[in-house]
Amino acid sequence: MIKNGTIVTATDVYQADIRVKGEKIVEIAEEILPSAGAEVIDARGQYIMPGGIDVHTHLAWPFQSTGTADDFESGSKAAAVGGITSIINFTNPGKNQTLIENLREWKEKAKISAIDYGFHSIINEYSDEILEELPVLAKEEGVTSIKLFMAYKGELMVNDLEMYKIMKKAGEHGIVTNVHAENGDIIDDMVAEAISKGNTDPIYHAYTRPAELEAEATARALSIAEVANAPVYIVHVSCKEALEKVEMAKKRGVTAFAETCPQYLVLDESYLALPDFEGGKYVCSPPLRDKSNQEVLWAGLASGSLSTLGSDHCPFRFEGQKTMGRNNFSKIPNGVPGIEDLYSIAFQYGVQEGRISLQKFVEITSTAPAKLFGLYPNKGSVAVGFDADLVLVDPNRTRTITAETQYQNLDYNAYEGREIQGVLTHVLSRGDVIAKEGKFTGELGRGKYQYRRAFHSSLLGGSADARSKQKSTI
Ligand code: URP
Ligand code: ZN
Ligand code: ZN
Repeated sequence: MIKNGTIVTATDVYQADIRVKGEKIVEIAEEILPSAGAEVIDARGQYIMPGGIDVHTHLAWPFQSTGTADDFESGSKAAAVGGITSIINFTNPGKNQTLIENLREWKEKAKISAIDYGFHSIINEYSDEILEELPVLAKEEGVTSIKLFMAYKGELMVNDLEMYKIMKKAGEHGIVTNVHAENGDIIDDMVAEAISKGNTDPIYHAYTRPAELEAEATARALSIAEVANAPVYIVHVSCKEALEKVEMAKKRGVTAFAETCPQYLVLDESYLALPDFEGGKYVCSPPLRDKSNQEVLWAGLASGSLSTLGSDHCPFRFEGQKTMGRNNFSKIPNGVPGIEDLYSIAFQYGVQEGRISLQKFVEITSTAPAKLFGLYPNKGSVAVGFDADLVLVDPNRTRTITAETQYQNLDYNAYEGREIQGVLTHVLSRGDVIAKEGKFTGELGRGKYQYRRAFHSSLLGGSADARSKQKSTI
Protein backbone atom coordinates (compact mmCIF):
# COMPACT_ATOMS: atom_id res chain seq x y z
CA MET A 1 0.00 0.00 0.00
CA ILE A 2 1.11 3.50 -0.74
CA LYS A 3 -0.68 6.07 1.37
CA ASN A 4 -1.04 9.86 1.30
CA GLY A 5 0.87 10.48 -1.92
CA THR A 6 0.02 12.67 -4.89
CA ILE A 7 -0.64 10.58 -7.98
CA VAL A 8 0.49 12.02 -11.29
CA THR A 9 -0.70 10.74 -14.65
CA ALA A 10 -0.44 12.26 -18.10
CA THR A 11 -3.74 14.02 -17.44
CA ASP A 12 -4.21 14.37 -13.67
CA VAL A 13 -2.59 15.30 -10.38
CA TYR A 14 -4.54 14.23 -7.28
CA GLN A 15 -4.11 12.83 -3.83
CA ALA A 16 -5.13 9.20 -3.22
CA ASP A 17 -4.06 5.89 -1.74
CA ILE A 18 -2.94 2.95 -3.87
CA ARG A 19 -3.29 -0.73 -3.16
CA VAL A 20 -0.97 -3.13 -4.95
CA LYS A 21 -1.63 -6.85 -5.06
CA GLY A 22 0.96 -9.09 -6.63
CA GLU A 23 2.22 -7.25 -9.69
CA LYS A 24 -0.75 -4.97 -10.26
CA ILE A 25 -2.41 -1.84 -8.98
CA VAL A 26 -5.76 -3.14 -7.74
CA GLU A 27 -7.32 -0.13 -6.07
CA ILE A 28 -7.02 3.64 -6.03
CA ALA A 29 -9.23 5.59 -3.67
CA GLU A 30 -9.24 8.66 -1.50
CA GLU A 31 -8.64 6.55 1.57
CA ILE A 32 -7.87 2.85 1.70
CA LEU A 33 -7.46 1.05 5.00
CA PRO A 34 -4.47 -1.30 4.98
CA SER A 35 -5.38 -4.94 5.32
CA ALA A 36 -3.68 -6.92 8.08
CA GLY A 37 -0.03 -7.56 7.34
CA ALA A 38 0.12 -5.11 4.43
CA GLU A 39 3.38 -3.31 3.88
CA VAL A 40 2.65 0.41 3.87
CA ILE A 41 4.75 3.16 2.33
CA ASP A 42 3.90 6.63 3.54
CA ALA A 43 4.21 8.91 0.52
CA ARG A 44 3.12 12.14 2.21
CA GLY A 45 4.57 15.11 0.33
CA GLN A 46 5.68 12.88 -2.54
CA TYR A 47 4.59 12.36 -6.11
CA ILE A 48 3.68 8.87 -7.27
CA MET A 49 4.40 8.56 -10.97
CA PRO A 50 4.49 5.67 -13.43
CA GLY A 51 7.91 4.08 -13.86
CA GLY A 52 10.00 5.55 -16.61
CA ILE A 53 9.99 3.72 -19.95
CA ASP A 54 13.23 4.30 -21.78
CA VAL A 55 12.73 3.16 -25.35
CA HIS A 56 16.24 4.03 -26.51
CA THR A 57 19.00 1.98 -24.86
CA HIS A 58 22.12 0.25 -26.11
CA LEU A 59 22.96 -2.19 -23.30
CA ALA A 60 25.50 -4.90 -24.18
CA TRP A 61 25.73 -3.47 -27.67
CA PRO A 62 28.67 -4.11 -30.00
CA PHE A 63 29.49 -0.92 -31.89
CA GLN A 64 32.38 0.81 -33.66
CA SER A 65 34.93 -1.93 -32.91
CA THR A 66 34.11 -1.98 -29.20
CA GLY A 67 31.03 -2.59 -27.07
CA THR A 68 28.97 -0.54 -24.64
CA ALA A 69 30.20 -0.52 -21.05
CA ASP A 70 26.87 -1.44 -19.47
CA ASP A 71 25.31 -4.86 -19.89
CA PHE A 72 21.88 -5.87 -18.65
CA GLU A 73 23.29 -6.25 -15.14
CA SER A 74 24.87 -2.84 -14.51
CA GLY A 75 22.52 -1.16 -16.95
CA SER A 76 19.32 -2.45 -15.41
CA LYS A 77 20.50 -1.58 -11.90
CA ALA A 78 21.38 1.93 -13.05
CA ALA A 79 17.98 2.19 -14.71
CA ALA A 80 16.19 1.03 -11.56
CA VAL A 81 17.81 3.57 -9.23
CA GLY A 82 17.13 6.21 -11.87
CA GLY A 83 13.37 5.51 -11.99
CA ILE A 84 13.34 3.51 -15.22
CA THR A 85 11.30 0.32 -14.87
CA SER A 86 11.16 -0.75 -18.53
CA ILE A 87 13.52 -0.41 -21.44
CA ILE A 88 13.44 -1.21 -25.09
CA ASN A 89 16.97 -2.05 -26.15
CA PHE A 90 18.41 -2.39 -29.63
CA THR A 91 19.49 -5.74 -31.01
CA ASN A 92 22.18 -6.07 -33.64
CA PRO A 93 21.92 -8.77 -36.24
CA GLY A 94 25.05 -10.65 -37.20
CA LYS A 95 25.90 -11.35 -40.83
CA ASN A 96 23.74 -14.11 -42.31
CA GLN A 97 21.60 -14.26 -39.20
CA THR A 98 17.83 -14.07 -39.27
CA LEU A 99 16.09 -11.45 -37.13
CA ILE A 100 14.45 -14.21 -35.12
CA GLU A 101 17.76 -15.98 -34.42
CA ASN A 102 19.26 -12.67 -33.40
CA LEU A 103 16.33 -11.92 -31.12
CA ARG A 104 16.84 -15.27 -29.36
CA GLU A 105 20.43 -14.29 -28.58
CA TRP A 106 19.34 -10.95 -27.18
CA LYS A 107 16.66 -12.53 -25.02
CA GLU A 108 19.42 -14.70 -23.50
CA LYS A 109 21.66 -11.70 -22.88
CA ALA A 110 18.82 -9.84 -21.17
CA LYS A 111 17.76 -12.65 -18.82
CA ILE A 112 19.80 -11.14 -15.99
CA SER A 113 17.89 -7.85 -16.19
CA ALA A 114 16.40 -6.42 -13.02
CA ILE A 115 13.75 -4.51 -14.96
CA ASP A 116 11.34 -5.32 -17.77
CA TYR A 117 12.59 -5.17 -21.31
CA GLY A 118 11.78 -5.49 -24.95
CA PHE A 119 13.73 -5.08 -28.17
CA HIS A 120 13.71 -3.01 -31.33
CA SER A 121 15.19 -5.20 -34.07
CA ILE A 122 17.84 -3.39 -36.03
CA ILE A 123 17.91 -4.12 -39.74
CA ASN A 124 21.34 -3.27 -41.10
CA GLU A 125 21.28 -5.39 -44.20
CA TYR A 126 18.33 -5.54 -46.55
CA SER A 127 17.06 -8.80 -48.00
CA ASP A 128 13.69 -9.97 -49.30
CA GLU A 129 13.75 -12.71 -46.65
CA ILE A 130 13.90 -10.14 -43.88
CA LEU A 131 10.65 -8.64 -45.12
CA GLU A 132 9.01 -12.03 -44.63
CA GLU A 133 10.27 -12.17 -41.05
CA LEU A 134 8.56 -8.94 -40.01
CA PRO A 135 5.05 -10.34 -39.51
CA VAL A 136 6.48 -13.26 -37.55
CA LEU A 137 8.53 -10.91 -35.42
CA ALA A 138 5.45 -8.85 -34.59
CA LYS A 139 2.91 -11.62 -34.09
CA GLU A 140 4.92 -14.43 -32.57
CA GLU A 141 7.63 -12.53 -30.76
CA GLY A 142 5.87 -9.29 -29.85
CA VAL A 143 8.58 -7.18 -31.44
CA THR A 144 6.50 -4.37 -32.90
CA SER A 145 9.30 -1.96 -33.70
CA ILE A 146 12.42 -2.01 -35.82
CA LYS A 147 15.33 0.36 -36.25
CA LEU A 148 16.97 1.72 -39.39
CA PHE A 149 20.06 3.90 -39.66
CA MET A 150 20.68 6.52 -42.33
CA ALA A 151 24.28 6.92 -41.08
CA TYR A 152 27.20 4.70 -39.98
CA LYS A 153 27.84 3.46 -43.50
CA GLY A 154 29.35 0.00 -43.73
CA GLU A 155 28.13 -0.90 -40.28
CA LEU A 156 24.44 -0.06 -39.98
CA MET A 157 23.30 2.24 -42.79
CA VAL A 158 20.54 1.30 -45.24
CA ASN A 159 19.69 3.20 -48.40
CA ASP A 160 16.43 4.93 -49.33
CA LEU A 161 14.97 2.10 -51.37
CA GLU A 162 15.72 -0.40 -48.63
CA MET A 163 14.16 1.92 -46.10
CA TYR A 164 11.06 2.29 -48.24
CA LYS A 165 10.59 -1.45 -48.72
CA ILE A 166 11.14 -2.20 -45.05
CA MET A 167 8.85 0.59 -43.84
CA LYS A 168 6.10 -0.46 -46.22
CA LYS A 169 6.11 -4.02 -44.91
CA ALA A 170 6.47 -2.85 -41.31
CA GLY A 171 3.50 -0.52 -41.67
CA GLU A 172 1.32 -3.36 -42.93
CA HIS A 173 1.95 -5.24 -39.68
CA GLY A 174 1.67 -2.49 -37.10
CA ILE A 175 5.42 -2.21 -36.68
CA VAL A 176 6.90 1.20 -35.90
CA THR A 177 10.13 2.04 -37.71
CA ASN A 178 12.67 3.92 -35.60
CA VAL A 179 15.00 5.99 -37.72
CA HIS A 180 18.42 7.45 -36.97
CA ALA A 181 18.24 10.38 -39.37
CA GLU A 182 21.55 11.86 -40.51
CA ASN A 183 22.92 11.93 -44.05
CA GLY A 184 25.67 9.32 -43.61
CA ASP A 185 27.17 9.64 -47.11
CA ILE A 186 27.89 13.34 -46.83
CA ILE A 187 28.97 13.09 -43.20
CA ASP A 188 31.58 10.45 -44.09
CA ASP A 189 32.96 12.74 -46.78
CA MET A 190 33.15 15.69 -44.40
CA VAL A 191 34.84 13.54 -41.76
CA ALA A 192 37.46 12.34 -44.26
CA GLU A 193 38.13 15.92 -45.33
CA ALA A 194 38.54 17.13 -41.74
CA ILE A 195 40.94 14.32 -40.85
CA SER A 196 42.98 14.89 -44.02
CA LYS A 197 43.44 18.52 -42.97
CA GLY A 198 44.64 17.47 -39.51
CA ASN A 199 41.44 18.58 -37.78
CA THR A 200 41.29 15.67 -35.37
CA ASP A 201 39.90 17.13 -32.10
CA PRO A 202 36.48 16.10 -30.74
CA ILE A 203 34.90 19.42 -31.72
CA TYR A 204 35.23 18.38 -35.38
CA HIS A 205 32.72 15.65 -34.64
CA ALA A 206 30.15 18.45 -34.40
CA TYR A 207 31.49 20.40 -37.38
CA THR A 208 31.28 17.34 -39.65
CA ARG A 209 27.70 16.47 -38.69
CA PRO A 210 25.85 19.74 -39.27
CA ALA A 211 22.22 20.25 -38.30
CA GLU A 212 21.26 20.62 -41.98
CA LEU A 213 22.27 17.02 -42.63
CA GLU A 214 20.12 15.84 -39.74
CA ALA A 215 17.21 17.92 -41.04
CA GLU A 216 17.67 16.65 -44.58
CA ALA A 217 17.66 13.00 -43.51
CA THR A 218 14.74 13.59 -41.15
CA ALA A 219 12.66 15.08 -43.97
CA ARG A 220 13.67 12.22 -46.27
CA ALA A 221 12.71 9.54 -43.73
CA LEU A 222 9.39 11.26 -43.10
CA SER A 223 8.58 11.47 -46.79
CA ILE A 224 9.53 7.85 -47.35
CA ALA A 225 7.32 6.82 -44.42
CA GLU A 226 4.53 8.93 -45.85
CA VAL A 227 4.70 7.21 -49.22
CA ALA A 228 5.12 3.80 -47.57
CA ASN A 229 2.08 4.60 -45.41
CA ALA A 230 3.95 3.53 -42.32
CA PRO A 231 4.31 4.86 -38.77
CA VAL A 232 7.74 6.36 -38.18
CA TYR A 233 9.58 7.39 -35.03
CA ILE A 234 12.54 9.73 -35.42
CA VAL A 235 14.99 9.02 -32.62
CA HIS A 236 17.23 11.57 -30.90
CA VAL A 237 16.11 14.82 -32.55
CA SER A 238 18.88 17.25 -31.59
CA CYS A 239 18.10 20.53 -33.30
CA LYS A 240 15.55 23.08 -34.43
CA GLU A 241 16.08 22.29 -38.13
CA ALA A 242 15.14 18.62 -37.73
CA LEU A 243 12.26 19.38 -35.39
CA GLU A 244 10.77 21.69 -38.01
CA LYS A 245 10.70 18.80 -40.48
CA VAL A 246 8.86 16.67 -37.94
CA GLU A 247 6.32 19.43 -37.34
CA MET A 248 5.75 19.88 -41.06
CA ALA A 249 5.19 16.15 -41.54
CA LYS A 250 2.77 15.94 -38.65
CA LYS A 251 0.83 18.88 -40.08
CA ARG A 252 0.32 17.11 -43.37
CA GLY A 253 -0.88 13.96 -41.61
CA VAL A 254 2.15 11.67 -41.62
CA THR A 255 1.97 9.14 -38.79
CA ALA A 256 5.18 10.55 -37.39
CA PHE A 257 6.55 10.77 -33.88
CA ALA A 258 9.82 11.99 -32.51
CA GLU A 259 12.04 11.69 -29.49
CA THR A 260 14.69 13.86 -27.95
CA CYS A 261 17.25 12.99 -25.29
CA PRO A 262 18.48 14.65 -22.08
CA GLN A 263 21.90 15.39 -23.56
CA TYR A 264 20.35 17.66 -26.19
CA LEU A 265 18.27 19.44 -23.55
CA VAL A 266 21.02 20.32 -21.10
CA LEU A 267 24.41 19.85 -22.79
CA ASP A 268 25.72 21.75 -25.80
CA GLU A 269 28.44 21.81 -28.42
CA SER A 270 30.89 23.67 -26.15
CA TYR A 271 31.41 20.43 -24.18
CA LEU A 272 33.09 18.94 -27.24
CA ALA A 273 35.70 21.70 -27.09
CA LEU A 274 36.77 20.94 -23.50
CA PRO A 275 40.57 20.68 -23.18
CA ASP A 276 42.68 17.54 -22.59
CA PHE A 277 40.39 15.40 -24.71
CA GLU A 278 37.59 15.83 -22.12
CA GLY A 279 35.43 16.64 -25.14
CA GLY A 280 35.69 12.99 -26.16
CA LYS A 281 33.30 12.08 -23.35
CA TYR A 282 30.54 14.03 -25.09
CA VAL A 283 30.82 12.57 -28.58
CA CYS A 284 27.46 11.22 -29.63
CA SER A 285 25.47 11.30 -32.86
CA PRO A 286 23.77 13.53 -33.75
CA PRO A 287 26.30 15.75 -31.99
CA LEU A 288 25.56 18.18 -29.18
CA ARG A 289 24.32 21.41 -30.75
CA ASP A 290 24.43 25.13 -30.15
CA LYS A 291 22.78 26.00 -26.84
CA SER A 292 19.99 27.90 -28.60
CA ASN A 293 18.48 24.56 -29.60
CA GLN A 294 17.75 23.55 -26.02
CA GLU A 295 14.73 25.80 -25.46
CA VAL A 296 13.39 24.87 -28.91
CA LEU A 297 13.46 21.19 -27.94
CA TRP A 298 11.82 21.87 -24.58
CA ALA A 299 9.11 23.79 -26.40
CA GLY A 300 8.72 20.81 -28.76
CA LEU A 301 8.14 18.52 -25.80
CA ALA A 302 5.68 20.95 -24.26
CA SER A 303 3.71 21.31 -27.50
CA GLY A 304 3.69 17.61 -28.36
CA SER A 305 5.73 17.79 -31.53
CA LEU A 306 8.25 15.71 -29.61
CA SER A 307 6.44 12.77 -28.02
CA THR A 308 9.05 11.15 -25.83
CA LEU A 309 12.31 11.39 -24.00
CA GLY A 310 14.75 8.52 -24.49
CA SER A 311 18.20 8.31 -22.98
CA ASP A 312 20.07 6.92 -26.02
CA HIS A 313 22.17 5.33 -23.28
CA CYS A 314 25.21 4.20 -25.26
CA PRO A 315 27.97 4.25 -22.66
CA PHE A 316 31.70 3.99 -23.25
CA ARG A 317 34.35 4.35 -20.59
CA PHE A 318 36.64 7.34 -20.95
CA GLU A 319 39.85 5.39 -20.35
CA GLY A 320 40.34 2.74 -22.98
CA GLN A 321 37.18 3.40 -25.02
CA LYS A 322 36.65 7.11 -25.66
CA THR A 323 40.45 7.50 -25.73
CA MET A 324 40.64 5.25 -28.80
CA GLY A 325 40.01 8.50 -30.65
CA ARG A 326 42.51 10.73 -28.87
CA ASN A 327 44.28 11.49 -32.15
CA ASN A 328 41.32 11.11 -34.45
CA PHE A 329 37.78 12.09 -33.45
CA SER A 330 36.28 9.64 -35.94
CA LYS A 331 37.66 6.77 -33.82
CA ILE A 332 35.83 7.90 -30.68
CA PRO A 333 32.95 5.49 -30.09
CA ASN A 334 29.73 7.47 -30.41
CA GLY A 335 27.42 7.70 -27.45
CA VAL A 336 26.82 9.17 -24.03
CA PRO A 337 25.45 7.55 -20.87
CA GLY A 338 22.07 8.61 -19.51
CA ILE A 339 19.87 5.75 -18.34
CA GLU A 340 20.50 6.52 -14.67
CA ASP A 341 19.88 10.25 -14.99
CA LEU A 342 17.23 10.65 -17.69
CA TYR A 343 14.31 10.75 -15.25
CA SER A 344 16.00 13.13 -12.80
CA ILE A 345 17.33 15.47 -15.47
CA ALA A 346 13.86 15.75 -17.00
CA PHE A 347 12.32 16.32 -13.58
CA GLN A 348 14.80 19.03 -12.60
CA TYR A 349 15.16 20.96 -15.84
CA GLY A 350 11.65 20.23 -17.04
CA VAL A 351 9.29 20.28 -14.06
CA GLN A 352 11.26 22.06 -11.34
CA GLU A 353 12.45 24.81 -13.65
CA GLY A 354 8.98 25.30 -15.12
CA ARG A 355 9.48 24.17 -18.72
CA ILE A 356 6.92 21.37 -18.61
CA SER A 357 4.06 20.38 -16.32
CA LEU A 358 4.06 17.33 -14.07
CA GLN A 359 1.54 15.70 -16.39
CA LYS A 360 3.73 16.36 -19.41
CA PHE A 361 6.68 14.86 -17.55
CA VAL A 362 4.70 11.65 -17.07
CA GLU A 363 3.54 11.69 -20.67
CA ILE A 364 7.02 11.95 -22.18
CA THR A 365 8.78 9.59 -19.78
CA SER A 366 6.13 6.89 -19.57
CA THR A 367 2.68 7.21 -21.14
CA ALA A 368 3.66 8.13 -24.69
CA PRO A 369 6.49 5.54 -24.90
CA ALA A 370 4.06 2.88 -23.62
CA LYS A 371 1.43 3.79 -26.18
CA LEU A 372 3.83 4.08 -29.08
CA PHE A 373 5.61 0.84 -28.43
CA GLY A 374 2.79 -1.49 -27.47
CA LEU A 375 3.17 -1.63 -23.69
CA TYR A 376 -0.09 0.17 -22.94
CA PRO A 377 -2.30 -0.59 -20.91
CA ASN A 378 0.01 -2.72 -18.80
CA LYS A 379 2.48 0.08 -18.46
CA GLY A 380 2.50 3.85 -18.83
CA SER A 381 0.12 5.06 -16.14
CA VAL A 382 -0.90 4.89 -12.52
CA ALA A 383 -4.31 3.26 -12.74
CA VAL A 384 -6.15 0.13 -11.66
CA GLY A 385 -5.12 -2.84 -13.77
CA PHE A 386 -1.73 -1.45 -14.69
CA ASP A 387 1.52 -3.01 -13.55
CA ALA A 388 2.65 -1.52 -10.25
CA ASP A 389 5.65 0.17 -11.84
CA LEU A 390 5.86 3.27 -9.69
CA VAL A 391 8.33 5.98 -8.81
CA LEU A 392 7.95 8.00 -5.62
CA VAL A 393 9.59 11.39 -5.86
CA ASP A 394 10.16 13.73 -2.95
CA PRO A 395 10.35 17.16 -4.63
CA ASN A 396 11.55 18.88 -1.47
CA ARG A 397 14.84 17.06 -1.14
CA THR A 398 17.92 17.49 -3.30
CA ARG A 399 20.78 15.30 -4.40
CA THR A 400 23.82 15.77 -6.60
CA ILE A 401 24.63 13.58 -9.58
CA THR A 402 28.10 12.11 -9.44
CA ALA A 403 30.01 9.26 -11.02
CA GLU A 404 31.22 8.28 -7.57
CA THR A 405 27.90 6.80 -6.55
CA GLN A 406 26.47 5.79 -9.91
CA TYR A 407 25.55 2.24 -10.92
CA GLN A 408 26.50 2.87 -14.54
CA ASN A 409 29.72 0.98 -15.25
CA LEU A 410 31.62 4.12 -16.15
CA ASP A 411 34.50 6.33 -15.08
CA TYR A 412 32.52 9.53 -15.66
CA ASN A 413 29.02 10.93 -15.66
CA ALA A 414 27.94 13.39 -18.35
CA TYR A 415 25.92 15.33 -15.73
CA GLU A 416 28.57 15.40 -12.99
CA GLY A 417 27.84 17.86 -10.20
CA ARG A 418 24.32 18.79 -11.25
CA GLU A 419 21.88 19.31 -8.43
CA ILE A 420 18.48 17.69 -8.67
CA GLN A 421 15.64 18.87 -6.49
CA GLY A 422 13.73 15.61 -6.28
CA VAL A 423 14.86 12.42 -4.60
CA LEU A 424 13.53 9.11 -5.92
CA THR A 425 12.69 7.53 -2.57
CA HIS A 426 11.15 4.30 -3.90
CA VAL A 427 11.07 2.63 -7.29
CA LEU A 428 8.65 -0.26 -7.72
CA SER A 429 8.58 -2.72 -10.58
CA ARG A 430 5.51 -4.94 -10.71
CA GLY A 431 5.06 -4.41 -6.99
CA ASP A 432 8.67 -5.10 -5.92
CA VAL A 433 10.67 -2.25 -4.41
CA ILE A 434 13.73 -2.40 -6.68
CA ALA A 435 15.40 0.83 -5.55
CA LYS A 436 15.29 2.97 -2.45
CA GLU A 437 16.96 6.33 -1.95
CA GLY A 438 19.43 5.75 -4.78
CA LYS A 439 20.31 2.20 -3.76
CA PHE A 440 19.42 -0.85 -5.81
CA THR A 441 17.25 -3.19 -3.72
CA GLY A 442 15.91 -5.46 -6.46
CA GLU A 443 17.03 -8.79 -7.78
CA LEU A 444 18.84 -9.53 -10.97
CA GLY A 445 16.90 -11.77 -13.31
CA ARG A 446 13.47 -10.61 -12.13
CA GLY A 447 12.90 -8.51 -15.25
CA LYS A 448 10.42 -9.91 -17.76
CA TYR A 449 10.49 -9.88 -21.52
CA GLN A 450 7.61 -7.77 -22.81
CA TYR A 451 5.58 -9.12 -25.68
CA ARG A 452 4.42 -5.85 -27.25
CA ARG A 453 1.21 -5.03 -29.11
CA ALA A 454 1.04 -3.80 -32.66
CA PHE A 455 1.03 -0.04 -33.19
CA HIS A 456 -2.29 1.71 -33.30
CA SER A 457 -2.39 5.40 -34.09
CA SER A 458 -5.73 6.03 -32.35
CA LEU A 459 -3.98 5.50 -29.00
CA LEU A 460 -1.76 8.44 -29.74
CA GLY A 461 -4.59 10.81 -30.51
CA GLY A 462 -3.46 10.98 -34.11
CA SER A 463 -5.41 13.34 -36.31
CA ALA A 464 -8.43 11.97 -38.13
CA ASP A 465 -6.48 12.55 -41.26
CA ALA A 466 -3.55 10.47 -40.04
CA ARG A 467 -5.92 7.73 -38.98
CA SER A 468 -7.65 7.54 -42.31
CA LYS A 469 -4.30 7.44 -44.06
CA GLN A 470 -3.28 4.49 -41.93
CA LYS A 471 -4.60 1.72 -44.14
CA SER A 472 -3.02 -1.17 -42.25
CA THR A 473 -5.14 -4.01 -40.98
CA ILE A 474 -4.00 -3.91 -37.36
O1 URP B 1 26.02 8.42 -30.54
C1 URP B 1 25.10 7.62 -30.41
N1 URP B 1 23.88 8.07 -30.38
N2 URP B 1 25.40 6.31 -30.29
C2 URP B 1 24.49 5.27 -30.26
C3 URP B 1 24.06 4.85 -31.61
C4 URP B 1 22.98 5.74 -32.10
O2 URP B 1 23.19 6.43 -33.08
O3 URP B 1 21.90 5.77 -31.52
ZN1 ZN C 1 21.29 6.92 -33.46
ZN1 ZN D 1 20.97 5.26 -29.98
